[in-house]
Amino acid sequence: MSRKKRVAVIFGGQSSEHEVSRRSAESVIKNINRQQYDVLMFGITKDGRWLYYDGPVEKISTGEWQEIAEARIRLLKASPDNSGASLSKSLPAAAGTYAKDIFTSAGAGGEDHTIDVVFPVMHGCNAEDGTIQGFFELAGIPYVGPGVLGSALGMDKAFSKIIFEKEGLPQGRYLVFTRRQISSHMDSVIREVERSLTYPCFVKPSNAGSSVGVSKAHDREELVKAVRLAARYDRKVLAEEFIDGREVECAVLGNDDPIASTVGEIIPCNEFYDYEAKYIHEDSKIVIPADLPEETIEEIRGYAVRAFRALDCSGLSRVDFFVHRDTGKVYLNEINTMPGFTSISMYPKLWEASGIPYGELIGRLLDLAVERFEENRRDYER
Ligand SMILES: Nc1ncnc2c1ncn2[C@@H]1O[C@H](COP(=O)(O)OP(=O)(O)O)[C@@H](O)[C@H]1O
Ligand SMILES: [Mg+2]
Repeated sequence: MSRKKRVAVIFGGQSSEHEVSRRSAESVIKNINRQQYDVLMFGITKDGRWLYYDGPVEKISTGEWQEIAEARIRLLKASPDNSGASLSKSLPAAAGTYAKDIFTSAGAGGEDHTIDVVFPVMHGCNAEDGTIQGFFELAGIPYVGPGVLGSALGMDKAFSKIIFEKEGLPQGRYLVFTRRQISSHMDSVIREVERSLTYPCFVKPSNAGSSVGVSKAHDREELVKAVRLAARYDRKVLAEEFIDGREVECAVLGNDDPIASTVGEIIPCNEFYDYEAKYIHEDSKIVIPADLPEETIEEIRGYAVRAFRALDCSGLSRVDFFVHRDTGKVYLNEINTMPGFTSISMYPKLWEASGIPYGELIGRLLDLAVERFEENRRDYER
């Protein structure tokens, strides 16, 4: 009998979405089919250490996992023949070996930790933006989600807009500024925004997530504050036309032949879907399927697949839109290449409503990861 496959679930990370990632990962781990897969868990602490974790799954979302993992390291260090307990610690030992071995020796304590596929259940910078994907490429390990290019493009709102424009997808007007322009020429930044857009307008970092650094500016004073705030989170800042719309989202699944789910609506409990409305108050509502005309649902599903393909995505993405309250016009807002994955998150809920239950969805994503890995094989010989 062939051995079970091993999936490594990586959670946490150094982005502002560390906590969200832990919640998503806990759901994913609980729902992986154990008949087919053994699961290895790796947590990345907020200060960037990779810790192998083999404790109770419930302690991931609470944060207690870290202490358990650290205690294990102390124990390993105390025993004479084992020392490599975190990724950074094992790096010197891994010198002269393959990138893959960095992984397999991370906290292994001498055990065989060969990994067949990785599910990086992490959001935001260094997690969903092509950086960690590049590491998996070097390591030669299949991983869930888009590759380096799709992840990087999807994360950078300024860049994804350029490509969406080229693809002819409808989106609101926007401007892009660098941190340098903001710090040296705030006056001209404000002038330019006021010339192109009207109040209120939205200001956001190009690379961020979970609404961190996103503001709605109602006047010049708020605009100045909004631009400064956004510039704290990224070197590039976007100012956007305010779309007075309902917020709807569509899930995409697949590699070269992606499929779109039904469409869901978010009804935020605050003025917009800010961090608090997403994760703290929890009285924002999700409506699946969204109460929209059939043609609008189909239009959105079509755009979602086109957006996914345009950015060279694979595996999964959630594509977010606005439907204007008065005109009914659809605007593409953004794509998320590693969307929230708790059992009550929009992405899995959309698939559940479209006939793919949570557990099966995870199985499909792991299969898609391996399929893409095979598809990407190249000949390096001349
Ligand atoms: N141009 C806009 N018009 C209206 N609302 C917006 C606009 N841009 C962002 N928002 C609001 O801010 C939220 C977060 O912005 P978004 O671009 O989705 O960033 P994030 O990647 O942090 O989710 C959206 O869900 C929406 O509620
Ligand atoms: Mg968003």
